[in-house]
Amino acid sequence: MRVVSGIQPTGNLHLGNYLGAIKQWVAMQDAMAPGDDCLFFLADLHALTGTVEPRALAANTIEMAATLLAAGIDPDRAILFNQARVKAHSELAWILGGTARIGWLNRMTQWKDKAGKNREGASVGLFTYPVLQAADVLAYNATHVPVGDDQKQHLELARDIATKFNTDYAVDLFTLPEPFISKAAPRVMSLRDGAAKMSKSDPSDMSRINLVDDDDLIVQKLRKAKTDPEPLPADATGLAERPEARNLVTIYAALADESVDAVLARYAGQGFGAFKPALADLAVATLSPIRERLTRLLDDRADVANVLDRGAARARDLAAPTLKAAQEAVGLLI
Ligand code: TYM
Repeated sequence: MRVVSGIQPTGNLHLGNYLGAIKQWVAMQDAMAPGDDCLFFLADLHALTGTVEPRALAANTIEMAATLLAAGIDPDRAILFNQARVKAHSELAWILGGTARIGWLNRMTQWKDKAGKNREGASVGLFTYPVLQAADVLAYNATHVPVGDDQKQHLELARDIATKFNTDYAVDLFTLPEPFISKAAPRVMSLRDGAAKMSKSDPSDMSRINLVDDDDLIVQKLRKAKTDPEPLPADATGLAERPEARNLVTIYAALADESVDAVLARYAGQGFGAFKPALADLAVATLSPIRERLTRLLDDRADVANVLDRGAARARDLAAPTLKAAQEAVGLLI
C-alpha cells in the first residue's frame, strides 16, 4: 500500500479538513504494514495558484506541518514534506501536461467554481492545478489517496491521465490511484448553511471550526450553528431533508467513531438544546489536545523545518525512479 495525500498551506485547518482527510491519514499511518509507505505533504506549489503572500506562505507551511504533527502524523512512520522541495512533482507535472487534455481540465468543477465568470483573468496555474495534483500521486505510484469528497474529480482525472500516458507510450508505468474517501465525513458542511461545504474561504468564521479555535469559541460556534426546531429522529432516514441537523449529527458520529444511527439511538426525540452541548464537549475533547500539542510544537519551528527536510529527502528517493521512467518513456533521456 502506498498512501499519498496533500493539503494546501493556505491558512488554518478546519474540522472539515480534519474529519474528511487528516483523521484518515493518521488511521492509515497507524495501520501501516511492513513495506507500506505513507506520504503526506503541504501543497505549497498548489498554493501559488491563488493570491500569494510570500511571508504568509512560508509561515503557513510550517504551521500546517506542525498541525499535522499535532493531529497525530508521526514523522518516524509517515513521510511529511513540502511539495516544493521535491522537484519531481513539478517535472512530472510538465511531462503530464503533454498528456492531459484541455477538455478534461475544462470540466473540473473546482476550476469552474474558483475561476467563476473571470476565466480570462484566472491564473494558468489554477487551470492546470489538477495536472500537478496528478503528478503528486503518480510520482509515487500511490495506491490509496485519502481525501474529502471534493477531491474525487481531481483523482479521477489523475487516473485518466495515467491511463492515457500508459497507453500512448505503451508502458506499464503509472499505477491507477484509488481515491479513499472518508465514509464518516466525506463532506463536512458549513455551520451556517447546510448546503455549503465547510471551507477556509468562507468569509464567515462562524461557518467553520478551526483547529486553533479555543474551547470557548468552539462551544460558541456550535451553540450558534444553524439548526431546525424539530427533535432528532430515530434514524438517519429522518435526517434526509434536514441538512443542518444531518451535518451536526454526522460531525458527532465522525468525532466519536460511531455510526449516525448509533448517535441517533441515544438522542432520538431530544432537541438541539441537549444535543449541541454534547457535541461541543466532544469537539473540545478532540481538538483541545491537538491545539495544546500544536502550541508546544510551534515553540520550535526549526524542529518542524527539520522534519520537513528529512521527509523531502525520503520523498525524493521514492519519486526518482518513476520520474526517470517517465522521462525515458517520452524520450527525454539521451
Ligand atoms: P485542501 O487543502 O482544500 O483540503 C485538504 C483535504 O481536506 C479535505 N476537505 C474536506 N473534507 C470534508 N469536508 C470538508 N468540508 C472539507 N474541506 C476540505 C479535502 O478533500 C482534502 O482531502 N487539491 C487538494 C490538495 C492536494 C492533494 C494532492 C490532495 C494537492 N495535491 C494530491 C490529494 C492528493 C486541496 O486543495 O485540498
